[in-house]
Amino acid sequence: MTILITGGAGFIGSNFTQYCIKHTNQKIIVLDKLTYAGNLNNFENLQKSKFKFVRGSIEDKELVESILKKNKIVSVINFAAESHVDRSIHGPYEFIKTNIVGTFKLLEASLTYYSKLSSSEAEKYKFLHVSTDEVYGSLRNNENPFTELNQFKPNSPYAASKASSDHLVRAFNKTYGLPTLITNCSNNYGPYQFPEKLIPLIILNAINSKEIPIYGNGKQIRDWLYVEDHCSAIMAVLNNGKFGETYNIGGLNEKTNLEVVNTVCDILEELKPREKDKYKDLIKHVKDRPGHDQRYAINSDKISKELGWYPSVKFEEGIRRTVKWYLNNLNWMNEIISGDYKKWIKKNYF
Ligand code: NAD
Ligand code: TYD
Repeated sequence: MTILITGGAGFIGSNFTQYCIKHTNQKIIVLDKLTYAGNLNNFENLQKSKFKFVRGSIEDKELVESILKKNKIVSVINFAAESHVDRSIHGPYEFIKTNIVGTFKLLEASLTYYSKLSSSEAEKYKFLHVSTDEVYGSLRNNENPFTELNQFKPNSPYAASKASSDHLVRAFNKTYGLPTLITNCSNNYGPYQFPEKLIPLIILNAINSKEIPIYGNGKQIRDWLYVEDHCSAIMAVLNNGKFGETYNIGGLNEKTNLEVVNTVCDILEELKPREKDKYKDLIKHVKDRPGHDQRYAINSDKISKELGWYPSVKFEEGIRRTVKWYLNNLNWMNEIISGDYKKWIKKNYF
């Protein structure tokens, strides 16, 4: 029983790979293009015998087909994506290529493979697409959290490309009968997140005495979920979700960006106090992100009622674990930002 994890060298994919190794006996193939966000050091504590890494793109249909066939894959879990809203504003094309065309090619390869399986093999096959709550757009502070029935109203090129990929996955189920599942999750935090996203960026800047940038007034709200809880939710959907359905996953934990930043500063103050001034003195309000969504919030009643999943890590606990992880793994962080990591990849793969 081998599963294919695409984008498995990124933040959530590598946490999911780790989760599968810990909680299942499944063999794992990770397929990842190793963009700036993919990092083989994310596997440093994993037993290498438990999984195989293939460098390549989900846009390469022949490669995907050969991996599926050669390893008799039973499930594909697609994490591969360009994932950063700010980068999508500066350069949307990569988002169209990977998130839309890449997902399409992955679906095509899956369908070709699936259509040749025996009926007993086909019964076991599953394609799970990992997506985001950002496809639903932005909520006002007094609106109800997103349910699976909310209309898609993406506001950034990133969100629009993910929304397109979700539609393609749905269409492959409705039109061709591919056994698909979709998850739409809120903001994740935890170990191995690339320091372009809010929480690792704040930690990195704070410990290097650099300004902590807050876009606009900092009153925007996100629903934060500890990454391990996202992994358990994906596993629940993979094991017991209904084909053709979508499941929202959220942390029941709405915080303004300012609340998050202040909490991280408080924890840093306790664990690694600054000599003269306070971490909070580094906070600086900067120009707002264009089209900045005010609020995301998830109603995860469906996954809770149908599959018995609930988030288990409270924000206060998860954020403390996260800050500690980054403080204890400064080498991981430094390799990324020093550019050494890129040099290493060039040496090994080109
Ligand atoms: P990430 O940017 O950390 O990782 C993405 C991974 O995909 C990287 O390893 C990258 O090398 C790989 N990749 C990019 N293009 C590829 C391609 N063409 N072929 C193969 N691999 C490719 O992202 P993440 O935060 O781990 O997010 C993973 C998935 O979860 C994404 O689909 C994202 O939309 C979704 N998601 C993320 C969050 C979040 O808060 N981070 C929340 C909800 C949903
Ligand atoms: P981010 O981690 O980029 O996730 P997303 O945009 O997908 O929600 O940002 C989380 C929130 O933090 C978002 O409202 C933008 C804000 N933000 C800042 O205020 N400053 C920053 O430097 C970054 C990266 C994000």
